[in-house]
Amino acid sequence: MSEVLKNTEKKIAIYNSNGKPTRSEEVNPDTPLESLNLNWTEKDLPEKIRTKHVNRLHPYLGKFIPQIVEIFLRKYFKSGQTVLDPFCGSGTTLVQANELGINSIGFDVSEFNILLVKAKTGNYDLNLLKNEIHELINRTEEIALKKQNKRDLFSELVQTYESIETDNEYLNTWFAPKALSELLIYKILLKEYKNKELFKIILSRAARSARLTTHFDLDFPKKPQTEPYYCYKHDRMCQPTDDALKFLKRYSIDTFTRIIEYSKLRTDASVNILHADSRFSKTKKIDGIITSPPYVGLIDYHDQHNYAYNLLDLKDNSEMEIGAAKNGSSKKAKEEYKIAMAEVFKNTSKHVRDEGKIIIIAGDKDNLYPEIGEMANLNLEHVVERHVNRRTGRRSNEFFESIFIYTKRK
Ligand SMILES: C[S@@+](CC[C@H](N)C(=O)[O-])C[C@H]1O[C@@H](n2cnc3c(N)ncnc32)[C@H](O)[C@@H]1O
Repeated sequence: MSEVLKNTEKKIAIYNSNGKPTRSEEVNPDTPLESLNLNWTEKDLPEKIRTKHVNRLHPYLGKFIPQIVEIFLRKYFKSGQTVLDPFCGSGTTLVQANELGINSIGFDVSEFNILLVKAKTGNYDLNLLKNEIHELINRTEEIALKKQNKRDLFSELVQTYESIETDNEYLNTWFAPKALSELLIYKILLKEYKNKELFKIILSRAARSARLTTHFDLDFPKKPQTEPYYCYKHDRMCQPTDDALKFLKRYSIDTFTRIIEYSKLRTDASVNILHADSRFSKTKKIDGIITSPPYVGLIDYHDQHNYAYNLLDLKDNSEMEIGAAKNGSSKKAKEEYKIAMAEVFKNTSKHVRDEGKIIIIAGDKDNLYPEIGEMANLNLEHVVERHVNRRTGRRSNEFFESIFIYTKRK
């Protein structure tokens, strides 16, 4: 126990052990909170393990690491029970819950995230998937080549299906013409396959890599990069790409490999995913909640996948995002954030059984969560803190993350 949380009526112990780094697979309902050491170094928990199997099916900024979720699922939930994540994002809670035989429900306002979680948690016929992946890539390549050589099959495709041109300004600005037509051919063809929803994720991932951006600014590039540039990532001059096919191929193989890996761990536990605003959505009786909410003024969740929204014609619900970066982190923004979060936890906790845990993981630098808990009529029981100190890439940074553990107030 390191400190005592201020700003609450009750004195809440904050746990931050410096014992042996916790191994998620060893945690069980009897593991004391005070023994948890979640301050893993890169060596304790390398990136490859943090992004195991389907957890890295597609880039997503702002997800929590599967090991944290696994620890609290193992401590507070049993196989056959149900957990809700009202901000399921890229689906980490649902993926890890299924591995442990725990049923799960996820809500998110972003349609792309819903597509991604469905792709991760789907139950696939692996033989069919393998055949479809191959066929789709081969047909895309064949038609793309014919288009380049202006051969017959291409004009046949245009007549049979639809035009490969687009008047979408974003797409025409952010992709080289060759890359864009490869993406559009794949998009037209994928509709013919049973696994089309998964293929949209491969398409989106390839589109992300095929944009006219620098290699070191893939998250929120400001303007298209059309000329060669000095690349900080590779320490040499690099050229913006005009090729999408190589990414479609690379990510097809990677996706298939990750799905095979996860299929060995998948259970029959149910997974229900809803495209909904958590302030208002309803659910059945649940045993608890585990979530990492959006933080105030930090990330625009729709915007980080704007290429997917443009390419896949998805509905933009960004005005429903709580704490969006574009609304800033002023005093007013924080007040609005607290009210919205309290609404979410009031709305969702009423479905939690008595004694069920509501676990919120947040880098709460403004100390908003003790008050949000009060406003939502929750009882803060414990806080576990973890020091995140990652030294990889240009985004290397250091911060604290708190795991707030509440129950409903009677
Ligand atoms: C921090 S992320 C969750 C990441 C997730 N734990 C994961 O591992 O991928 C927060 C998510 O909340 C979603 N969100 C924001 N406002 C929402 C609302 N009103 N209702 C439901 N989801 C919302 C965002 O779209 C985003 O995906």
